[in-house]
Amino acid sequence: MIKYADIVCGLAWGDEAKGKITSQLASSGEYDYVCRWAGGNNAGHTVYVDDTKFKTHLIPSGIFYGVKSVIGPGCVVNVKSFFSEIEYLNNSGFDTSLVKISPNAHVVTQEHINRDLKNQYKKLGTTAKGIGPCYSDKTKRVGTRVKDIDDFKDYLWDGYLEGNILCEGAQGFWLDLDYGNYPFVTSSTTLPYAACSLGFAPQQIRKIWGAAKIYDTRSGLDPEFPEQLLDDPELTRIGMLGQEYGVTTGRRRKVNWLNLNKLIQAINISGTTNLVISKVDILETLGIHKLLFNNELFEFNSVTEMKHFIKLEIIKNCNFMKDVIYSSSPKEI
Ligand code: IMP
Ligand code: MG
Repeated sequence: MIKYADIVCGLAWGDEAKGKITSQLASSGEYDYVCRWAGGNNAGHTVYVDDTKFKTHLIPSGIFYGVKSVIGPGCVVNVKSFFSEIEYLNNSGFDTSLVKISPNAHVVTQEHINRDLKNQYKKLGTTAKGIGPCYSDKTKRVGTRVKDIDDFKDYLWDGYLEGNILCEGAQGFWLDLDYGNYPFVTSSTTLPYAACSLGFAPQQIRKIWGAAKIYDTRSGLDPEFPEQLLDDPELTRIGMLGQEYGVTTGRRRKVNWLNLNKLIQAINISGTTNLVISKVDILETLGIHKLLFNNELFEFNSVTEMKHFIKLEIIKNCNFMKDVIYSSSPKEI
């Protein structure tokens, strides 16, 4: 029987330190399964285990703590990338027999990657991993599923969850196919309700951890993040100190001031109960403390003042919020 499901989701455009939060939660020993519900190797998760940095793209972070790690039916899987991640984790001493893939997950082929490169990569700034074409074949009902090919036979999941479940989101709220700035979005549902596709009911959701940063970043194209942002001296300093480069693509991310209205909207629609705002130390070190709210740029005297302002507005405007936590760059929450 399933006891409860906790979900970690991104509230911005990805890269909000979901990996760090999931990893900390998974290390508690509280969970029986850690699962991914959407996306593929377009994601990039950075996790620190005992001070060593690990980067994954597809395999859930439960693997670092000996917890069963499930890639759900809503995910898309590239065979080569999956097995190179398995090898990387094996070589690092982790038990990869805990990794399971839903037989209904779809397979990303070289043809999908070629189509992505030809039609979408330049126009939309995708990660060029074949994600869009794979999901489009799924929707057209002409795709290949994990159960259709032999490669994954040692990793097939029986589709049965029990105990306490932790769901690890990929990408973020504003990259969602329905909510984001279409067509500058990814091809899956990044909102936490989609985690139910793993095989539990909405009533079994206990906590929704929402991940955000104290400034916004965007990798890939988006008219909401114009190229001129890259020329702003303060935003450039934030991006440099915050090491805002894509884990998957190595591209320089565009940095902008935190848009508090968008954050509040993402919190409310996702149903976030526990909010973690990361990278506070970056603004603190630089002595830069600004955010966008109601179409105005607010400047504060200190990060403490800015944190206080954010928390007050969130408590005032977000009904489900139980806890707001501020955290620093990698390692600790
Ligand atoms: P796709 O998912 O490769 O099709 O890319 C679509 C859009 O989502 C592009 O703007 C990507 O930069 C963005 N994107 C996809 N995955 C991630 C992620 O894990 N972090 C940040 N941006 C992402
Ligand atoms: Mg990432």
